[in-house]
Amino acid sequence: MAHERNASSVGRVSRASFFCLFAVTFTLFVLSWFFVLRSTGRPSFLDYSLIPSSRLFSTVESKGTDQGSNKVETFSWDQGVSVDSAAEEDRRSNTGGDKCEDASRASVLRVYMYDLPPEYHFGLLGWTPKSGEIWPDIQSHIPGYAGGLNLQHSIEYWMTLDLLYSEFAPVDGRSAVRVHNSSEADIIFVPFFSSLSYNRYSKVEPPEKSSKNKLLQEKLVCYLTSQKEWIRSNGRDHVILAHHPNSMVDARTKLWTCMFILADFGRYPPNIANINKDIIAPYKHVVQNFDNDLSGFDDRPTLLYFQGAIYRKDGGLVRQELYYLLKDEKDIHFAFGSVQKGGLKQAMNGMRASKFCLNIAGDTPSSNRLFDAIVSHCVPVIISDDIELPFEDVLDYSEFSVFIRTSDALKEKFIVNLIRNITRDEWTRKWQRLKEIERFYEYQYPSKEGDAVQMIWQAVARKVPAVRLKINRARRFSRFGTRREKVVTGRIPSPGNFR
Ligand SMILES: *[C@@H]1O[C@H](CO)[C@@H](O)[C@H](O)[C@H]1NC(C)=O
Ligand SMILES: *[C@@H]1O[C@H](CO)[C@@H](O)[C@H](O)[C@H]1NC(C)=O
Repeated sequence: MAHERNASSVGRVSRASFFCLFAVTFTLFVLSWFFVLRSTGRPSFLDYSLIPSSRLFSTVESKGTDQGSNKVETFSWDQGVSVDSAAEEDRRSNTGGDKCEDASRASVLRVYMYDLPPEYHFGLLGWTPKSGEIWPDIQSHIPGYAGGLNLQHSIEYWMTLDLLYSEFAPVDGRSAVRVHNSSEADIIFVPFFSSLSYNRYSKVEPPEKSSKNKLLQEKLVCYLTSQKEWIRSNGRDHVILAHHPNSMVDARTKLWTCMFILADFGRYPPNIANINKDIIAPYKHVVQNFDNDLSGFDDRPTLLYFQGAIYRKDGGLVRQELYYLLKDEKDIHFAFGSVQKGGLKQAMNGMRASKFCLNIAGDTPSSNRLFDAIVSHCVPVIISDDIELPFEDVLDYSEFSVFIRTSDALKEKFIVNLIRNITRDEWTRKWQRLKEIERFYEYQYPSKEGDAVQMIWQAVARKVPAVRLKINRARRFSRFGTRREKVVTGRIPSPGNFR
């Protein structure tokens, strides 16, 4: 018996050690593979081009790497044609070919812009075209945008100008170029100056029954939904500007499949516009830039600055409560009153003399005040639970702002304690960061690398793969070569299925 027990325990021991040896060997094997893969610099197995559609994946290799150093010997199933020469051929012939294969497309967004009649864009600015002209010759004269507070929503103007400019500007530093063949475009741009149309043409002029703004929107819907570009994608690859929260109110329920460029989602039901498909663009700031700002922590006597209107709607209540919480604090400026009339200079000086600038949700979650604070290098304190911020997929706002939940902000002393606790070093870091990132909020002509216009194009470019996915999925069941889809204008998805 003793012998037998011994034998079985020996068996157990040897089985255990065998298993142990196996485990160690297997681990070493996996590790060595891992290091081999890393040392060849290949991101994944897919690049081993053993897949028949190797040309598709080859662009992963050529993208972002120096083309000269990119001579990788690869096995390819199509008649021994080397993957690289095939890609090279595509690049050389530059006919577009299969869109997946063009390596350069990743860097510059190709934008097709409809030649909408001038009444939709520069005509609204009083520009009168010579016969047959659609666009002003911007090399000789650029029609100016409307002044004053119109400017805060002038995004439409700067983006359209940038596309026109892209035809004769150097490609360096640009994120989008205009193409004239819509089949070769990544997205389709609709150059309707909708914010201007709302601001200037919302009044009904007596003989007419509805405003010019309303009529233009109706005509635009008819125009767009009959274009082959719209029908082809059901509008999904179309970019439509509606930066003023009240612009496009009539058309948006019919054109919701597109990608909107908005100030916020405050007045949109989530099935019409949401952060997954649409883009938040900054307001154009209305105070001047603070060039050569050397005003450190101690040069800004006001701790916290707020100047704004009391709104009766949603946000107004919070503003009033905050007013009673903060009005008696020393070194806090909290005053009501519109910035509009002559108050701009005062607002600018106030922000420049303050360490922190308060941004409270108004009747919409966003306002141009945030961008005025940024260019004044006044650290924004944001109390707006539903705010969506421009470029937040690439920018960490907590590096240069302070966020406070509304429910916390309404607690006695909460705001004051929190910001008095922020140290000089911490504040200075945020101030420095503001000076680095303020260029992302600059609209100008000509647009410069990394300014607001280029940042918006880049944000659009980041949405393109998702748009393409949606378009391709929608084509799954289009049979017999007909790519036409039913145009679903007017039918709004239920809130449940927009995700
Ligand atoms: C537009 O591009 C497509 C795809 O590259 C091409 O087939 C077509 O011929 C082009 N059309 C014109 C007018 O150049
Ligand atoms: C501020 O700092 C004090 C002392 O360090 C601390 O007791 C207090 O909780 C802090 N307040 C906030 C709002 O963080």
